[in-house]
Amino acid sequence: MKIDIVTIFPEIAKGPLSSSIMGRATKAGLVEIHFHDLRDYTTDKHRQVDDIPYGGGPGMVMKPEPFFAAVDALKSDQSKVIFLTPQGPPFRQAKAVELSRCEHLIFLCGHYEGVDHRVIEALVDEEISIGDYVLTNGTLAAAVVVDAIVRLIPGVLGDERSAETESFSGDGNRLEAPQYTRPAEFAGMPVPEVLLSGNHGVIAAWREAKGEERTLQNRPDLMEPPSISG
Ligand code: ADE
Repeated sequence: MKIDIVTIFPEIAKGPLSSSIMGRATKAGLVEIHFHDLRDYTTDKHRQVDDIPYGGGPGMVMKPEPFFAAVDALKSDQSKVIFLTPQGPPFRQAKAVELSRCEHLIFLCGHYEGVDHRVIEALVDEEISIGDYVLTNGTLAAAVVVDAIVRLIPGVLGDERSAETESFSGDGNRLEAPQYTRPAEFAGMPVPEVLLSGNHGVIAAWREAKGEERTLQNRPDLMEPPSISG
């Protein structure tokens, strides 16, 4: 898979996407990630990427021209263009799975009060929000989304099963059960007896029940039937 990230702060995405599992995935040739400075696609001497909003209001709006030039330079027939914005639909594991099967993803990162809407209308295939809060810019959000996608590419995780049994996998509406490692007793807290039993059937049933209990406690919204609007 090839990934292009277009941002005025490439260094924000480079750190998290060059270390640990992401770094190893790149070195192993399982993914190719390119970081582009949006200012490199400006043509004026001040390399300006924003301007005042039509209709007035606070803050600045990102200009369309650099984004159009960047997408024009990077796009091919296989590309999907994604814009990170708190106005997008919320990012979910199912979307990470879908995007992990794409050939080429281009992430456009916003900043300031938003982007000229013609960018979204003409260039963007999908908008994505990583949650109901506002970051200073979309670059961190792009790093989050790319991490979630890349770890699903076959060969990136050491043990493929860890992506299959984790929270939000499968039908996507249950959290994972608690995990324990050695020692069997720590600071007066024993590991649940069932996990030491060696009985895989009983352990699987315990994990399912605990996953459900945790979901009810922390994310009761996941247990509700989906609304008609999806
Ligand atoms: N840019 C700023 N806030 C964001 C969010 N919550 N998700 C995606 N992009 C963003």
